[in-house]
Amino acid sequence: MKTQKVTIHTLQQKKERGEKIAMLTAYDATFARLLDESDIDILLVGDSLGMVVQGHETTLPVTLDEMIYHTRAVARGAGRAQIVGDMPFMTYQAGLDTALANAGRLVKEGGCHAVKLEGGAQHAALVARLVGCGIPVMGHIGLTPQSFHQMGGFKVQGREHGGAERLLEDALALQEAGAYILVLEGIPSEIAERITAALDIPTIGIGAGPHCDGQVLVIYDLLGMNDSFKPRFVRRYEDFAGRIRAATRAYVEDVRAGGFPAERESFFLDTRPTKPVSRVAASDSATAASEDGIELGGLYASVNH
Ligand code: KIV
Repeated sequence: MKTQKVTIHTLQQKKERGEKIAMLTAYDATFARLLDESDIDILLVGDSLGMVVQGHETTLPVTLDEMIYHTRAVARGAGRAQIVGDMPFMTYQAGLDTALANAGRLVKEGGCHAVKLEGGAQHAALVARLVGCGIPVMGHIGLTPQSFHQMGGFKVQGREHGGAERLLEDALALQEAGAYILVLEGIPSEIAERITAALDIPTIGIGAGPHCDGQVLVIYDLLGMNDSFKPRFVRRYEDFAGRIRAATRAYVEDVRAGGFPAERESFFLDTRPTKPVSRVAASDSATAASEDGIELGGLYASVNH
């Protein structure tokens, strides 16, 4: 049976039926495949890759070419999930035509099904333009990491007087412009609940409490890849930082002690006489190839050709 792909309509139906939407970030094909096999609804190729993959302090240095590169990798790995590509800082702020061309590249070259951009009502015209050209748009309001300097750091938004109203206005403006879904990041739970009830389109929360229509986390946070810092909104489902260090230490010890590789992990000269290939029957050709050549597993076996 063919897998039913997640589309903007699937997500809208989920909101209408009261079914929660599960979204995670992914930056490469292997993670995309594993998360897709775990029934994730949306894979966001977030510009958070600037921090967790590239090691920057913020998401600001990420370029469009880097986003396209990672989005293409995720698109190769995923099958069922909807793939959303993040528009990096300054690829959509400098004019509608430039933004449209850049979003078009992310879809055409990256292979994503939708783009995400940060900001509220100020981007309504852009959202309408992209949607008018057939590019679905995911909005993102509240704590918008690309406004790091403007916000004075990664801080919860909307707590000030009138903050809830401003966020609600932004959410409604994006919906009106044609956004199909909205990320609410780093805002009080009560405001997220109010916005979610007011909108027809689904909301996806991160640090926005339990009342959103879905949730998103950065996959590295969920897996506990960084054990030196845990923001309050993150739930770690694994301790991969500890497990990766332990596995690496075991490997280092094995190599230093001469315990790796063992015989079963090594190749040897084949001293048996080789059969001429032309005399091998077609049905025997695979066996003959592995006898005459070298059988490679591991890394090569995990690559989808
Ligand atoms: O870049 C990102 O990963 C994001 C999510 C955290 C929503 O924007």
